[in-house]
Amino acid sequence: MATPDILDPEAAAASTADRAWLSLLDRLNRQSVNRHFDAYADIDWESPALALDPEDPRWELPADDPLGQTGWYRQLPAPTRARLGCDLVASKMKIGLIFESILKRGLLEFASTLPNRAPEFRYAYHEIIEEAQHSLMFQEFVNRSGLDATGLSPIHRLGSRRIITLGRRFPQLFFLFVLGGEDPIDYVQRRELRSARVIHPLLERIMRIHVTEEARHLSFARHYLKRTVPALPRARRVMLATAAPLVLGSMAQLMLRPSLQLVARYQIPRNVIAEAYTRSPRYRAETAASLAKVRKLCTELGLTKAPYRVLWKLLRLEAPRATN
Ligand SMILES: [Fe+2]
Ligand SMILES: [Fe+2]
Repeated sequence: MATPDILDPEAAAASTADRAWLSLLDRLNRQSVNRHFDAYADIDWESPALALDPEDPRWELPADDPLGQTGWYRQLPAPTRARLGCDLVASKMKIGLIFESILKRGLLEFASTLPNRAPEFRYAYHEIIEEAQHSLMFQEFVNRSGLDATGLSPIHRLGSRRIITLGRRFPQLFFLFVLGGEDPIDYVQRRELRSARVIHPLLERIMRIHVTEEARHLSFARHYLKRTVPALPRARRVMLATAAPLVLGSMAQLMLRPSLQLVARYQIPRNVIAEAYTRSPRYRAETAASLAKVRKLCTELGLTKAPYRVLWKLLRLEAPRATN
């Protein structure tokens, strides 16, 4: 008997896409089994080589860091420069683990909607387990840094509850939020690992573990969106296209700029923040570059066309010009 694939080209294309999706999930699942990390078995926290001293000069911000390049930062005493650099890392880890907490709860909601035998279920649980290990290592780092990093502001906390339910109610918007958090951090961590700067070995170990596992999470989120967004009803696509630049822009800021707590703690003057971030064309280009992959994905999905393009432009999230 002829298979439906041969009789119906649409069904054939669908089954090819299904096979590609299943083989991606199979590959990601196998990687999660063969190459995963444990926050305490795979990091020797008690090793003297990994000891965390916030005044270690290796925490100093490099000259190409937005804040590190300001005259205000360079004139600080060396121990303060190091401490601020270490606190900046710790506060990003704290924000990272809060983001991961939202992500894990959203993934649980997403998995709760799946029927028995759905192949996405196993993948979602692997990702939840991996994120839990990341959060353990991030919190351990925060504890050892001595910085009492705070969580989200009440407004962000309120928003985070809505994001969790998106895992069940609107998974495409949820995974876009996921990419908004994961892509900028992945970009920064990969760039740091490639750079010639001296990185504290504890931070280097954490970043290497993180980028290895994040590659799977980013791959799943991107392919999930490619697979499901084209079939969404128009109203949902409008919502997604409108939310995309707002979600990505605010997530990137949260991940790349110093927290308000840190600004207050070191009394960083407003004009220094403006010089380093708000008014810095270089920082803006960096933010846009950190979102380049997810922006390209949004374009492929038809989410950056007019009239939505104006939002990307207003939020300065467009691709930097080639001449810059
Ligand atoms: Fe993570
Ligand atoms: Fe992740």
